[in-house]
Amino acid sequence: MKQGRKKFLKQLGAGLLAAGLPAIPLAANAIETGIDAKDFLDEGLPDDERYWKRIARKYYAVADDYINLENGYYGIQPKPVLHAFQKNIVTANEQAARFARKDYPGIATNVKKELAAFLDVSEEEIIITRNATEALNIAIQGYPFKNGDEVLLNQLDYFSMIEAFKMLEQRGQLKVNAFDMPLLPQSDDEIVEQYRKLITEKTKVILLTHVSNINGLIIPVAKIAAMAKAKGIDTITDSAHALGQIPFSLPQLGSDFVGLNLHKWIGNPVGAGVLYIKKERIKEMKPLFGDVTATENSINKLAHFGTTPFAVVMTIPDSLAFHRIMGIEKISKRLHYLKTTWVNAVKDHPDVEVVTPVNLSAAIASFRIKNKTAAEVADYLFKEHKIFTVARQLGKQGCVRVTPGIYNSLDEVQKLADAIKLFAGQ
Ligand SMILES: Cc1ncc(COP(=O)(O)O)c(C=O)c1O
Repeated sequence: MKQGRKKFLKQLGAGLLAAGLPAIPLAANAIETGIDAKDFLDEGLPDDERYWKRIARKYYAVADDYINLENGYYGIQPKPVLHAFQKNIVTANEQAARFARKDYPGIATNVKKELAAFLDVSEEEIIITRNATEALNIAIQGYPFKNGDEVLLNQLDYFSMIEAFKMLEQRGQLKVNAFDMPLLPQSDDEIVEQYRKLITEKTKVILLTHVSNINGLIIPVAKIAAMAKAKGIDTITDSAHALGQIPFSLPQLGSDFVGLNLHKWIGNPVGAGVLYIKKERIKEMKPLFGDVTATENSINKLAHFGTTPFAVVMTIPDSLAFHRIMGIEKISKRLHYLKTTWVNAVKDHPDVEVVTPVNLSAAIASFRIKNKTAAEVADYLFKEHKIFTVARQLGKQGCVRVTPGIYNSLDEVQKLADAIKLFAGQ
């Protein structure tokens, strides 16, 4: 995220990569990596179907017997990343324990350095976890709650984090205050106000889900975190869906505890997450995975994991390199365009309710059809139209979540809109 796309491309083209970005050696050579920098030089405007189809065809191998509009679960690895992953699996497998004991520690250190640079934070402020749930549980369960503390969260937060807080509540460690976030807020200020007005003098932590997995709502984390901090309240931020889907600066979020993953929108193989904790806050955190040997100021005290998925971690530089060459601005605008296209095509239908504010979301949007359950709608789309979406819990009726990926085409989201209207009754 730190380095601009243009600068990165220039370095690739000029062959300066090895000097400037030593941690991405694989990306320096198009033949070895399968990445050709020239492919990414065009503007790639959101509606430039030729550009996006070319990228999709060349860089993504996708099953063609259905249309996948459920990229919210995890993202498809681009071919160069998959290729690197396969090589890494072979290395870890054939070189076995010697590799794990002698080579891997150095590799893991470099990967962490590179990841920290990508996230624009210090390597002393992150640990690599297996996923965002693990990262956020370390933050939630390690946070120094005191008797009587309250946590503010809402129905659009991710269920695993709500569960973690409820578990601590059952153990008598805190009290959960849950509220209903409006599904269609009009502005960032309206969202900030939702949190502000529910803060009590006992509120200690606010859970912030940067991009909701239910309806794709993007909340203004930096504004809420600043408002909370001014009142002495911490935020624990779940950016699992934000990293790689929307542009943001991790340090500028102003949230001292952030969990992320790399397998949704960064395109890494499944099994890599990140926990960020601001340096000054590490001291007060208690390890979830028992460790009494690491110094109390070292984030490593929170990372006492067992054997890790070597190849997944080793592939992180490749997925970061590919994501960076695509460019977060380009990616986010294209995803927004695909989402807006199908939403605009169905939103005025009298029996279709879109439950996502178009301008406060990126790839993800959700909808319902009157008198049909979300599961019925998702089943219909898949059985009758080979379009894969997912039903999510939201109130009594639920909703159907639609998540295009970067390789999806305009035709595919238009097919979805036609299918929705057909089922709702034209
Ligand atoms: C908002 C949000 N947070 C956290 C997670 C959990 O991510 P992971 O699978 O990396 O644990 C998800 C996964 O769907 C999510 O949507």
